[in-house]
Amino acid sequence: MELGVQVPRVSDLMTNIPTSGTTVRFIRENSLTNAAAAIAENGAYPEATWDLVEMDANVRKYAVLGRVTDEFFQDYDATRDYINNRLAYYHTPGIHTEAQVEGWKLVTRAVHGLNGRIFLQLWHVGRQSHNDLQPGGALPVAPSAIAGVGQSYVAPGVVKDYPVPRPLETSEVGEIVGEFRRGAELAKHAGFDGVELHAANGYLFEQFLSDSANHRTDKYGGGLANRARFLIEVTEAVASVWPASRIGVRLSPANTYGGITHSDRFGTYSYVVRELNRFGLAYLHFVEPLVAGNMDLKQFEDSLSSRHFKPLITGDTKLISAGGQNLRTGSVAVASSEADAIAYGRLFISNPNLPLRFAVWGGSYLRRRSGDVN
Ligand SMILES: Cc1cc2nc3c(=O)[nH]c(=O)nc-3n(C[C@H](O)[C@H](O)[C@H](O)COP(=O)(O)O)c2cc1C
Repeated sequence: MELGVQVPRVSDLMTNIPTSGTTVRFIRENSLTNAAAAIAENGAYPEATWDLVEMDANVRKYAVLGRVTDEFFQDYDATRDYINNRLAYYHTPGIHTEAQVEGWKLVTRAVHGLNGRIFLQLWHVGRQSHNDLQPGGALPVAPSAIAGVGQSYVAPGVVKDYPVPRPLETSEVGEIVGEFRRGAELAKHAGFDGVELHAANGYLFEQFLSDSANHRTDKYGGGLANRARFLIEVTEAVASVWPASRIGVRLSPANTYGGITHSDRFGTYSYVVRELNRFGLAYLHFVEPLVAGNMDLKQFEDSLSSRHFKPLITGDTKLISAGGQNLRTGSVAVASSEADAIAYGRLFISNPNLPLRFAVWGGSYLRRRSGDVN
């Protein structure tokens, strides 16, 4: 099975390994994977590298490769019925049904077989979906009838502007909390090691948090405590299923993706961090102001960097930093205790053996590629 996390099978890769020469020479003359295999064979493979490098798991794409979607598609109609009006993006796999659980077991077993760990990210895109993806062409749902800025894939090669969403009834918000609880339960059945709530990048949690996207007048809108209520209720629900030490929350204080704005970003996310502190979660996963979604930003608002939120985090909760990181910046952030771990998105997606590249090449390859010569 193809998976995003690949550990070299030394036995499969030995054929091109030279019997002499320095590591550096070897790397120049052979593929990186073989170089890593050679180092592993010599006992010099830097295992510790894996401890600091988090796979920013783009599970959706690897799920397709990993055949989770076989089950997903087999059960597609049933899934649509079950989740009624709550599909996210085109072809995103879910964890709504037992059939999907069986599919995910393929992934979790494979990852565990490689001595890896895997959390499942649970999300709801809210207004960033499209009626073309919803049963009966119904509108996607959101806190308020305010459209996101951007477009959704509705079919291969076809994008459409986000529509004006249908505002959720108060009772429906509670139903979505219940869906997250069920997702967390099924994640456990599927053998995941934990779950991450996707409260970043302009999706439903952030739509509730944002005073530009949330104009509600019920208990989920208005003041900050009300706007954060949905995230806190879902965290409580998920914490009734998993120990807090197996739950993470992803946050993006500087996010503009999806047309998100906030009148007081630092105040909003300081409050969220303080509220989440009482759960003693495994980690808070911050997206840095260097990116919006998966795109680099030209302007950098340093005051919203994760390091400014770190002093607010209490207990054993760790801080993961993601977004625009490379080997050098990530190493510096960890060495200076600004972050406990670094997550890499695009670099990891395009280089499944990224830790090996970091370890073997000391970053020179990546610096050359990115033009970052510092
Ligand atoms: C193809 C692609 C898919 C992504 N999917 C997700 C996702 O499902 N959940 C998420 O939290 N972030 C997702 N991201 C954002 C990344 O997690 C990450 O925050 C972003 O790429 C910035 O980090 P980077 O500079 O290391 O790439 C995705 C990014 C890309 C490029």
